[in-house]
Amino acid sequence: MTRILTNEQTGPYAVKEGKFPLYICACGLSKNKPYCDGSHKKTRDEQPGVVYKYEGDRRTEVKP
Ligand code: FES
Repeated sequence: MTRILTNEQTGPYAVKEGKFPLYICACGLSKNKPYCDGSHKKTRDEQPGVVYKYEGDRRTEVKP
């Protein structure tokens, strides 16, 4: 089964847990969900109004 999801977040949610915050992935790209693994850095140069598709290390623009 395959699902296509959209995410507009470009960084993690910080959740206070004990002494240190936990960083929860909100971009959808982490390979260590639910935790952020830094993969959101790939979204830094995304342009507003453009839809991107991520497959492994490859990113392509989705044409309307
Ligand atoms: S928020 Fe998704 S990898 Fe960091």
